[in-house]
Amino acid sequence: MAYLVFSGSTRRNSYHTHLAHAAVDQLDQSGQAYTLLDLADYPLPIYDGDIEAAGLPENARTLRQIFARHHGLVIANPEYNGSITPLLKNVLDWVSRKDDSVKDIEPYAGKTALLLATSPGSLAGQRAIRHTREILTSLNAIVLPQHVAVPTASQAFAPNGELIDEKQKAALKTQLNALIQLTEKLAD
Ligand SMILES: Cc1cc2nc3c(=O)[nH]c(=O)nc-3n(C[C@H](O)[C@H](O)[C@H](O)COP(=O)(O)O)c2cc1C
Repeated sequence: MAYLVFSGSTRRNSYHTHLAHAAVDQLDQSGQAYTLLDLADYPLPIYDGDIEAAGLPENARTLRQIFARHHGLVIANPEYNGSITPLLKNVLDWVSRKDDSVKDIEPYAGKTALLLATSPGSLAGQRAIRHTREILTSLNAIVLPQHVAVPTASQAFAPNGELIDEKQKAALKTQLNALIQLTEKLAD
């Protein structure tokens, strides 16, 4: 099984990029295959049907193919005003569009997903998770019922980006293991 891990923020020193790295470290330790994706490498215009009508942007095509090659998604999901970030929504929207030049690939349906969030506040960005869960579910992905939420982001990460709190590391490990189990079960 292979997991696609990415952050919904491209900000330098993004807490969500730290979380994505923490997830990758644990997948690595448990011997799983993964890709750590940096959305900054795949800039896309804000979705517009006229742009699509002129041809799916190259980065949207590439991202569709990258999504399709993986069995599970791990998304570090920042919260803006109680919801998903425009960057993440835009990427999810572009990737959901058909690419007539590449048939029979599936970027979402049947894939598992684990959502991670953190924020400077005590709610840890959990309201956004609800929205991303709905979006992914509407795309026929199977989102784990549990998520990982890390409050007080400014104190949660060491200077090297690692999670400091052992309980939070353990919570991440538990949910990644649940993702792995579910993904393997679905592939049986
Ligand atoms: C436009 C905007 C709206 C935000 N709204 C929320 C919010 O509703 N809840 C929250 O916990 N944090 C909110 N924040 C703070 C973000 O959680 C914070 O900027 C966080 O660091 C973003 O993730 P990143 O570090 O991965 O970039 C908001 C930030 C911005 C820029």
